[in-house]
Amino acid sequence: MESGQNSSEPDLLIHELTENWEKDLEQIQAYIETFDHTEVFIVSENSDPQVLIHALRVDGVKEFLPAPLDEAAINQALDRFLERQGKKQQKTTGHLGQIISLISSKGGVGTTTIAVNLADSLKRKPNGFTVALMDMNMVFGDIPMFLNISPKHHWGDITRNIDRLDEFYLSNVLTRTAGGLDVLASPGYLEKQANLPTPQVIITLLELMKKKYDYIVIDLGQSMNDSALQIIKMSNRVEIVTIQTLPCLSNASRVIKSLLENGYTDQANLYLILNRYIKKGIVNLQTVEQGLNQKISLLIPNDYSTTMSAINSGQTLQESAPKSSIARCYNDYADSLLPEGTEKRKKKGWFF
Ligand SMILES: Nc1ncnc2c1ncn2[C@@H]1O[C@H](COP(=O)(O)OP(=O)(O)OP(=O)(O)O)[C@@H](O)[C@H]1O
Ligand SMILES: [Mg+2]
Repeated sequence: MESGQNSSEPDLLIHELTENWEKDLEQIQAYIETFDHTEVFIVSENSDPQVLIHALRVDGVKEFLPAPLDEAAINQALDRFLERQGKKQQKTTGHLGQIISLISSKGGVGTTTIAVNLADSLKRKPNGFTVALMDMNMVFGDIPMFLNISPKHHWGDITRNIDRLDEFYLSNVLTRTAGGLDVLASPGYLEKQANLPTPQVIITLLELMKKKYDYIVIDLGQSMNDSALQIIKMSNRVEIVTIQTLPCLSNASRVIKSLLENGYTDQANLYLILNRYIKKGIVNLQTVEQGLNQKISLLIPNDYSTTMSAINSGQTLQESAPKSSIARCYNDYADSLLPEGTEKRKKKGWFF
């Protein structure tokens, strides 16, 4: 719903024309004069050009669908409707609401390092983006250590009080870092089932966060429960993190296949990150791409000492080693996620 829109006003009205189509169109025009945020689809057995021209002259009429209805045409019209709604939403809230989830193909592949440093690099862009970082590793979440923060609140506070969740409550539960990131920490211990987020909690939370943040970076780790799958469904980018070893690549292949075949995401939203990339690694890039039937979208160079010393000092790579090639790689990665038309630094060749 847009701001200025009455809560009883529908987003979409589908109206079938009767034989008395001129009268119908007058009524629709009168309706739109009161409810001017509603879009109208006209369905009509009569596709005479006269009817079509008159219908499209009525304010708010966006589609004219000849009856009997064609399923593909309806789906395309609804897709266009959703796209327009998304753009309106973006205009009214002023935030991009991009959800980026990172999934580990195996423990220890570097997913938390990537989530933290991507969020930090986005936050550092001169555009003043609002960036949130969410930890879905409920017991083994270690984002606070990476960012040297001690959150007072965590996921359990959201789940227990989902009825109270609004912008104000949310800003109290998130922990702001010195660099301006808002972190939703995990409980860090075994919560009772009732305190863990359900898919419905995820929907409510992410819908709210999309209105408040430009980027929501989510460290999913290896979670594949219903809540994680709900996050994946709602993500604009689902990024699978792997390294050049056969067990990881084999897991990555199974994750990609499961997500695509079950419709949790589609090919256009799926990305593959190869972390700890070594040029002379046992498995070369071509083999990775062919084996996974998936293009690599990002290579992150192997640099254990720089990443480890950043983690140990509770700093991000842009703070601890801004000139390192790995920090530059994260900066370019963040650039690649900026909206079209944003000025970017020249890429360094890590992207495909
Ligand atoms: N590009 C890199 N090059 C070398 N080492 C890296 C790189 N990225 C991360 N690491 C190292 O990998 C280790 C694991 O990193 P991290 O905790 O981010 O992985 P994870 O996938 O989140 O692990 P977990 O399964 O425990 O959640 C750390 O010691 C980190 O320093
Ligand atoms: Mg981790």
